[in-house]
Amino acid sequence: MRQQNKRASLSQTGVSELTSTDSVSDRLPSSVISALRSTLLNWYSEQGRDLPWRRSRDPYAIWVSEIMLQQTQVKTVIPYYDRWLTQFPTLQALASAEQQQVLKVWQGLGYYARARNLHRAAQEIVSKHNGNFPTDLKAVISLSGVGRTTAGGILSAAFDQPTSILDGNVKRVLARLVALAIPTKRAIAHLWQLSEVLLDPAHPRDFNQAWMDLGATVCLPRNPLCDRCPWQTYCRAYIQGIQTELPMTETRPPIPRKMIGVAVIWNDAGQILIDRRKPEGLLGGMWEFPGGKVEPGETIPACIQREIQEELGIEIEVGDRLIVVDHTYSHFHVTLNVHHCKHLSGEPQAIECDEIRWVELTDLDSYPFPKANLQIIEALKRGKES
Ligand code: ADE
Repeated sequence: MRQQNKRASLSQTGVSELTSTDSVSDRLPSSVISALRSTLLNWYSEQGRDLPWRRSRDPYAIWVSEIMLQQTQVKTVIPYYDRWLTQFPTLQALASAEQQQVLKVWQGLGYYARARNLHRAAQEIVSKHNGNFPTDLKAVISLSGVGRTTAGGILSAAFDQPTSILDGNVKRVLARLVALAIPTKRAIAHLWQLSEVLLDPAHPRDFNQAWMDLGATVCLPRNPLCDRCPWQTYCRAYIQGIQTELPMTETRPPIPRKMIGVAVIWNDAGQILIDRRKPEGLLGGMWEFPGGKVEPGETIPACIQREIQEELGIEIEVGDRLIVVDHTYSHFHVTLNVHHCKHLSGEPQAIECDEIRWVELTDLDSYPFPKANLQIIEALKRGKES
């Protein structure tokens, strides 16, 4: 009897299971598409979040929010978004800022390439588009750091254009709606098609925002709140009772840990040596305390001494440990083993970095440092060893 009911409701949903070879656009009856649109928009009008960027139609502000939200949660983004717009209220203000200033405002948000790309793209918009944010999808996608879903999010939110999106939240909602039998990574083209088919051309702005909210507040990764979902009766995963098993994921190899030796090098004047990383790559353009990877069989002090000789061409004496900092980046963990060091001889040279400076402890706050390095600064300020 239960099985029979299940079968009956499956056919009533009008949403059919999607495998890698299905074409989605032919498979959703228009009555179901209409119902999915209207139930989601009704839900959004009552349950949608009041977020700062939703009060704006300024494409620049919306672009900034979309870039910040690419890898960071809403609650973390809000104070950064507000500070950014205070510091760089217009696209022109951003384009004419120094990269160091831009990285400083981004400090702590991670994935610093996003800040460098925003800065570069603002300059591209000034030079190629007269300072006006482009309204053409292709032109937006060609900006540094902007992919198809970010472009769709910006154009729908700023200009109410019917441009679809496919971020992590939307992928999860769709994978459950159609009970996607393969990992989302292997169904990207189908999911884009589905996103385009479902997008309400009469309300693209609200529809896309609603969709993101549904993923962020109801269709949660681990414990979806199906009883609050406007799409419950259409959701094949819910009907089959497999919503917590979807989306399917591919098993990932464990992420490696890198051991790093880090030097806080003091000179006789009580200043500390810091270096600025090369402009591209992980943490490009950010300042740091110098150091490098511990080689197999090497002790931490030996590593620090070798790295400082190789990178800066100077002799140091490695002293007491200041702090050990663990930090996780997207594809690896790091352990920073930080020691106080004394400069003995040689003029520091920027061999493997862009710039080096001797600075006072009290001046460190004016340089952009990655999060893991901020703990080192705090430890120095506390003057404590651990
Ligand atoms: N994630 C990406 N874009 C977003 C938006 N506009 N609102 C909430 N979360 C988002």
